[in-house]
Amino acid sequence: MFTQYTIANLQLENRSVRSATATGTCEVTSGIPEQQFYKLYQSLARGHPGLIIQEHAFVSLRGNAGPKHLGIHSDDMIKYHKKANDLMRAANSSIRICCQLAHAGPNGIATDKIDVNTATISDLEEVVQQFLEAAVRAQQAGYDCVELHSAHTYLLSQSISNYYNKRTDCYNPTEFKLLKDVLTAIRTVNIPIGVKLQCDDFFEGFGMDAKNTCTILNQLNFDFVEISGGDVAGKAKYGTIRQGKDTYYYRHVIAEMKSQNLLNKQPVIVTGGFENIQDAQIALDDGVPLVGFARKFLRNDQFLVEEDTKKCIRCNQCIGKLVQGQSAECPLQVKQ
Ligand SMILES: Cc1cc2nc3c(=O)[nH]c(=O)nc-3n(C[C@H](O)[C@H](O)[C@H](O)COP(=O)(O)O)c2cc1C
Repeated sequence: MFTQYTIANLQLENRSVRSATATGTCEVTSGIPEQQFYKLYQSLARGHPGLIIQEHAFVSLRGNAGPKHLGIHSDDMIKYHKKANDLMRAANSSIRICCQLAHAGPNGIATDKIDVNTATISDLEEVVQQFLEAAVRAQQAGYDCVELHSAHTYLLSQSISNYYNKRTDCYNPTEFKLLKDVLTAIRTVNIPIGVKLQCDDFFEGFGMDAKNTCTILNQLNFDFVEISGGDVAGKAKYGTIRQGKDTYYYRHVIAEMKSQNLLNKQPVIVTGGFENIQDAQIALDDGVPLVGFARKFLRNDQFLVEEDTKKCIRCNQCIGKLVQGQSAECPLQVKQ
């Protein structure tokens, strides 16, 4: 865990990644960070993960997932992102920071939100343009890389899953045109690009699975890929942000990726269910170079640099608070 690693010419201090975690610390609808946001990210940087993937930032107001989420939908937002990046680097000069670009699609709160099945071609072309413009802003704000949020039933994620995407035109799920077009567009910007993929929706006979994940990764060239398992909690066998302790429950996908030599094609991050450094070692031993943690950092953002006595019990009150428009603090944070 504590050895260096390089992704796309970016040297990471160690193999741990703070996976994107919406904190609910922005203004209600504008996407502008509040003071708590900056404090929180400075503290995270002091906890020395190799890479911080910033919470998802919506690329357009139509793609905003909910109240108090972060935006990167206009040039006016660049200065807020730059301020956060500068503060994180002042707190830890070796920190690497990734901007996660997202469009919530049907999960959004806008009255004119987009559904993958009913979107017009021009809606989808507009989405590609919005991702491109957001990536340019991310580069101007000083991020080291960007990650496309193509997981957890957001627009890009639904577009690649035949559980959700029933289109028969060129945006059908087997051609993953939307994801491909976004990648191609952002390749014109001088910034490394990763993707977060739900590698298995855990729906019987439908949706993303190991085979589809490998097909996408064989055809598209990302600078890194973050593998996250599961769909919406309660709907599929495994939810991405599920309660309970199923560590590394999508290991079969990693095995398939390994058999197709896809662990060597680009750096891979696995995220979901890792509670501590010992858990992470299972994935590292499988040959996965990087391990992501989300709720663990909410519970204790210093767990990599101090004795870790604060356990995440996966009560999911953090996500519950976020959905209700509050900050996603861990309710156990004050108790040790
Ligand atoms: C409060 C909360 C907010 C989240 N926000 C994001 C997000 O902004 N982007 C994202 O890709 N995943 C988000 N996730 C999912 C996590 O990145 C991660 O994939 C998931 O929680 C499983 O990892 P864990 O078991 O380490 O928590 C969020 C999860 C939680 C609990």
